[in-house]
Parts: sequence; C-alpha cells; structure tokens
Amino acid sequence: MIIGVPKEIKNNENRVGLTPAGAKELVKRGHEVYIQSTSGDGSGFTDTDYESTGANILETIEEVYAVAEMIIKVKEPIEAEYDLIKEDQLLFTYFHFASYEPLTMAMIKNKSVCLAYETVESSDRSLPLLIPMSEVAGRMAIQQGAKFLEKPLKGRGILLGGVPGVSPAKVLILGGGIVGTNAAKMAAGLGADVTIMDLNLGRLRYLDDIMPANVKTVMSNEYNIRALIQDHDLIVGAVLIPGAKAPSLITRDMLKTMRPGTVLVDVAVDQGGCIETCKPTTHEDPTFIIDDVIHYCVANMPGAVPYTSTVALTNATLPYAIELAGKGWKQACSDREDLKLGLNIIKGEIVYKAVAETFDLPYTEVDKFLN
Ligand SMILES: NC(=O)c1ccc[n+]([C@@H]2O[C@H](COP(=O)([O-])OP(=O)(O)OC[C@H]3O[C@@H](n4cnc5c(N)ncnc54)[C@H](O)[C@@H]3O)[C@@H](O)[C@H]2O)c1
Repeated sequence: MIIGVPKEIKNNENRVGLTPAGAKELVKRGHEVYIQSTSGDGSGFTDTDYESTGANILETIEEVYAVAEMIIKVKEPIEAEYDLIKEDQLLFTYFHFASYEPLTMAMIKNKSVCLAYETVESSDRSLPLLIPMSEVAGRMAIQQGAKFLEKPLKGRGILLGGVPGVSPAKVLILGGGIVGTNAAKMAAGLGADVTIMDLNLGRLRYLDDIMPANVKTVMSNEYNIRALIQDHDLIVGAVLIPGAKAPSLITRDMLKTMRPGTVLVDVAVDQGGCIETCKPTTHEDPTFIIDDVIHYCVANMPGAVPYTSTVALTNATLPYAIELAGKGWKQACSDREDLKLGLNIIKGEIVYKAVAETFDLPYTEVDKFLN
C-alpha cells in the first residue's frame, strides 16, 4: 500500500502520525511510505531519520495527499486539507466528528473512508487509541500542578513531597480511570499524600490493591467532596461519563471553602470539565484565578510534550496501521471488530450511529461495505 504522512498544520500541533520506527515496520512489509518534509521536526525526528528507514520525503502536503492510498496523521483534517483528500482514500486519524459539523459534511462530500482513532474499541469496551493520551495527561497533571503550587506562580507555596519534618502536600484526584490512575502514580512517587475518589467501588478496590501506601481511596459523593477539598492543595479533575458532559463535582460556591493558592487541574475540560468554573485554556496562557484558587484547564495537555505523545500514540496506532496496510481496510475491518468500530464515514455515508444522530443525518449499517 502507498502510505502518506502529512505534516500537521493545526495551530500548535507538534505531533506526527508515524515515527521513523513505524515507517521502518511498514517499509519492511513492502509498503511505500511518503512523509512530508519536516513533519517530524516538532517531535524530534528529522527527514534523514525517516529516509534511513527507506521512507521517501515529499516537499508539499499536496504531493502527499495526491500519492497516498492511506493517510496516517494525528489531528482531524482542517479546512485547507478538505479538497486535497481523494475519493476512496483511507484516513486513519483522530476526527471527533460529533464536535464539528463542517468536518463531517466535508468528509461526506469527498467520499473518503474515515477510520477514527477515538472510536476504535476493544472487546472490554476500552478505547486503545485514546488511552495513551490519557496516560500522558494524567502524568502531566501532577507535573503542572506541582509547578503552579509554587509561590511565584501564585500557589500555596508547598512542595509536593514535603521534606523530613514537614508534611507533604495533599493531592485529591476526582475519577480513578486512566487519567486519575496515572496522576496518582506520579503524585505518590513524589511523596504526596494522595486520595482518589470514584463512583465505581470495584475500581476503588482495584486501586486500593495496587497503589502504594500513600494513596487512599474514598467514595465519590458531594458530601465527601465538600469535606476533602477544604484541606487539599492540588485537586485533579479526571472523571468521564462516556458520551456525556462531565458532571460539575466542584461548584462555584465550593471555591470559597478552599485555601488560597489551592491548584485545580481539570483534565476533563475537553468534556466540559468537572469543575463548574473551568473554561478551556491554552499552553500559552494555561491558568486563571477565581477566589484565590488557581485553575489549570488546558484542553490539549499532551501537545506540550510532543515527543512522548507521538511515541505513545504511534505505539498504539502502528499495529492497526500494519493491519490496514497489509489487508486493505475492507478485509482488516471485516476481520477485527475493534477496527470496524473505528469506521465513521465511508464514501459519503455515515456508518457510526452517534455521529449520524448528532447531526440528524442518515445512518448506514457498516456491514454494507465489508466483506
Ligand atoms: N485535557 C486533556 O488534554 C486531556 C487528555 C486526555 C484525556 N482527557 C480527558 O480526561 C477525562 C478522563 O479520561 P480517562 O481516560 O481517565 O477516562 P476513564 O473512563 O478511564 O476514567 C473516568 C473515571 O471517572 C469515574 N467517574 C465518573 N463519574 C464520576 C464521579 N461523579 N465521581 C468520581 N468519579 C467518577 C469513572 O468511574 C471512571 O473511573 C476525559 O474527559 C478525557 O477526555 C483530557
């Protein structure tokens, strides 16, 4: 198969859809790989790194879209790319169709085959191509939180791990899923006093088993949240109700009960946030303060660490890309239920129910297109 990797042109996006290691695996299997020049620069990979694997470098994005049967990238195509996409071209990337109607309409119009990272789903209902970014964001939440707890950044002026003779900081994590667990591991490793809250008792049992002794678990309910936020220094919002807006677990009135300089990191901001006063911020201007409480609500946290994020993402996407390149999308998606669930739009027809329902557009059963 002929595979193309365009440079990401979305504002501030430094990740790339394929690493040199991934390019080598595809070339080794007899595929032709075309990388747009400087695509890997933001993640620390040079054109020479790619060329050494047998991949070819193309100067322009137009050339990449023109030559490729399958496009591998990171973010959804933006407007400038809509007309470059060809009929029948397979696009393997994040789309998040439900959040943007013009993208959905454009991909219907160009009759491409859109396989979305975010809806590839394993048999245990986990989302293997979203997990790596949650791992990055969870770990980063503590790194950022620790920084904003410093006095010059308006925090309480407390060191996460304390020192001998001084208590460590108290970290509260709302939601013990992928983000929450990774945040807890980092905070615990730095010596903080960590509490994880979740609604799922089974999950709390599991976390209680595997976490070190400086991590406690507490059932999530309003009574417990109101009590705990009063003496915690760093609070991480990491809840998710699939397909729904995050619930407001910390409301405006609760801010006054917290100590000045408390830091809130609402990782769930991309689903509306679980802190009522949260609104999306950027890496350029990541925080704002309300009632002396610092809010960090960056919607694309992994974007700040493109090397780690690119490698983490492509570690997860590459096995699927190899399958798609080897068998073609029809056979690969017929053989594998997880990949099949990634199909969102095929040749002008929406085959993912939630996307069709969001925009009140016709829905076609995906099996119509498979072998
Ligand atoms: N800001 C970013 O850059 C970024 C990056 C990655 C992920 N995210 C977001 O982080 C959020 C969490 O993702 P995840 O992968 O950890 O999800 P997950 O499904 O693995 O975990 C969510 C957890 O929240 C728990 N939960 C639900 N309602 C709760 C409540 N009322 N109280 C306490 N816990 C509750 C669930 O039981 C589950 O354990 C998502 O909104 C995701 O989109 C943001």
